[in-house]
Amino acid sequence: MSGGLPADAPAVADAVLLTEEQLRARVAEIGRRITTDYAGRDLVLVTVLRGGVFFLADLCRSIDLPLRLDFMAVSAYEHEAPTGAVRITKDLDEDIEGASVLIVEDIIDTGLTLNYLLGVLRQRGPASLEVAILLDRDVRRIVDLPIAYRGFSIKDRYVVGYGLDIRGRYRNLRYVATVRDEVVG
Ligand code: IMP
Repeated sequence: MSGGLPADAPAVADAVLLTEEQLRARVAEIGRRITTDYAGRDLVLVTVLRGGVFFLADLCRSIDLPLRLDFMAVSAYEHEAPTGAVRITKDLDEDIEGASVLIVEDIIDTGLTLNYLLGVLRQRGPASLEVAILLDRDVRRIVDLPIAYRGFSIKDRYVVGYGLDIRGRYRNLRYVATVRDEVVG
């Protein structure tokens, strides 16, 4: 299916970038590495709603440790120069002081949002703070971030599926597809 499109693909999709099988295999591999790296630690997976929840759901079931899950939601300050500063509309429920926190995110583009969140969470005294990212589009990166686990590096194309949306839709596609240029504009 990679490259081509399934018959029921939405009209906005241009091509399949990552198939369901490729996603499953890579996520399982990252889960195995996290299981080894975090053995014996108090692991908390933190995901920013909403895009990351699909990756989180598959990743956490590939990790064989008694981990905790928590969620944040943010909204961008509109009409301001992008700095990455966001308003936290839903904060963590868990206390992360002394915990090994792993932020699980769908995609890093400029890196501004994640950089801001790392700063916020670091102030709460976690034992460690690392990042697991499904998709890394590094051509538009503004701030350099340490990424401990990376699913796939992707080119400069807008993508949907497996949690990623365009105008709120297509998060539920089982694969990741590039979006036709005229739709993104
Ligand atoms: P950053 O602060 O520029 O790194 O913003 C990353 C956020 O932008 C992600 O968490 C997504 O919500 C959104 N985003 C960036 N690129 C895409 C894309 O190709 N498809 C869907 N959402 C995207």
